[in-house]
Amino acid sequence: MKNVHLLDHPLIQHKISLLRDINTDTKEFRELVQEVSMLMSYEVTRNMPLKEVEIETPVGIARTKVISGKKLGIVPVLRAGLGMADGMLQLLPMAKVGHIGLYRDPGTLEPVEYYCKMPCDIEERDIVIMDPMIATGGSASRAIAYIKERNVNNIKLMCLIASKPGIEKINKEHPDVEIYCAAIDESLNDHGYIIPGLGDAGDRIFGTK
Ligand code: PRP
Ligand code: URA
Repeated sequence: MKNVHLLDHPLIQHKISLLRDINTDTKEFRELVQEVSMLMSYEVTRNMPLKEVEIETPVGIARTKVISGKKLGIVPVLRAGLGMADGMLQLLPMAKVGHIGLYRDPGTLEPVEYYCKMPCDIEERDIVIMDPMIATGGSASRAIAYIKERNVNNIKLMCLIASKPGIEKINKEHPDVEIYCAAIDESLNDHGYIIPGLGDAGDRIFGTK
């Protein structure tokens, strides 16, 4: 595995344990997804370029730094990725948001696309794709390919739990994409669920079954 950043901050790890717990209810689950996403955003944006500026303080002039360079866009993969978007938007309220709707065909486990709407200036932005679960990696790989077709060349993938096979698929199909995750699980079951994982992220965020 390469290009993987496992975010091991104690706050993130603690909250991931709560997310995995079968007894965590929908309200708490949704809040935790948002909180972990906000904490992870700190690392995902670590390399954003800065430029020096002069700011007048009440008592003098400070030579200080502000974010410069390309603007940011985030792309949650519907539906479960929606649960992560607000966490990042709280830190980066100016980011534009694209949506890509994908669901996994339960038989083939292949992603099926049903909705896409991207910012009109997407090619001028660095993009963070967010989806809580990278299982086979099919959905994330499809989302990355879709965004690359729109001439974006700096794409990061942010998830909560990634499986080893899923990471390997992304590494193979998109060797340029850095993956940020809070946990890496070994394998999948026969239905394509991450083991031990946390179950169906979309169902747990939205209270559906
Ligand atoms: C889940 C999850 C990912 C995908 C991961 O979505 O949010 O998008 O499965 O699986 P993969 O790596 O094998 O492609 P799901 O298809 O359940 O749709 P939902 O978000 O609408 O619940
Ligand atoms: N999608 C989920 O929500 N969970 C899994 O474990 C696999 C795919």
